Amino acid sequence: MNIILLGAPGAGKGTQASMLAEKYGFLHISTGDIFRANIKGGTEIGKLAKTYIDAGKLVPDSVTCEIVKDRLSKEDAAEGFMLDGFPRNVFQAEQLDSFSKIDFCLNINVPFELLMDRICGRRVCVCGESYHVTALNGRTTCLKCGKELYRRADDNPETVSARLETYLRETEPLIGYYEKQGKLLSVNGNGAPKEVFARICSAIDSRI
Ligand code: AP5
Ligand code: MG
Repeated sequence: MNIILLGAPGAGKGTQASMLAEKYGFLHISTGDIFRANIKGGTEIGKLAKTYIDAGKLVPDSVTCEIVKDRLSKEDAAEGFMLDGFPRNVFQAEQLDSFSKIDFCLNINVPFELLMDRICGRRVCVCGESYHVTALNGRTTCLKCGKELYRRADDNPETVSARLETYLRETEPLIGYYEKQGKLLSVNGNGAPKEVFARICSAIDSRI
């Protein structure tokens, strides 16, 4: 099964992806995570990506598409994958169609006014876990591995505003793109993560 997780910044793609990976064993591929690993590793891709990510803009398509094409050619992706954060514009979607076959695109729909708070309150861990400050009740370490939590560099109000604008301009048109292909599954992403997860599971189960 080859799936795309679509949704605005803060819609819950990463949160749902880790639960889906656990339940269905889907391989989770997040372009944002790949860029952040490159930034941490000080690679040339990381240096380039950082300038775009800090500005809330998309990393150039040529770089992003090549990374995804290469990742999908690896043996572990042959069994199926779940893309989180890719494609992010129509050009990337067309490129993806040229080197892979997508079964469906799962769009997580969240009222726009909730996104800023969700993102600015996010705390993440190096192990991949992610939380919202309100659920942490003052705790500063990861519930899973105990490491210190931190805030993503692009999770500040100014960059988040730019990310949301980029989403509306470049990514939202993908809803129509996949609807036309008969591959769109839209899920209400407003509610507790577990409730959203249950909705996503029934949408997926209706397709497999
Ligand atoms: P990326 O890392 O993909 O960031 P994003 O799309 O902005 O999405 P987020 O990770 O912020 O949100 P999410 O939907 O995963 O939400 P989460 O589950 O964490 O990309 C970062 C940057 O990399 C981009 O800006 C761009 O520059 C670059 N990039 C990446 N891909 C690219 C591409 N294809 N092309 C070009 N450039 C690319 O949840 C968010 C918060 O909400 C958390 O605090 C969480 O605890 C909370 N939350 C989650 N679910 C719920 C719920 N149901 N109720 C309440 N709170 C919730
Ligand atoms: Mg994410």
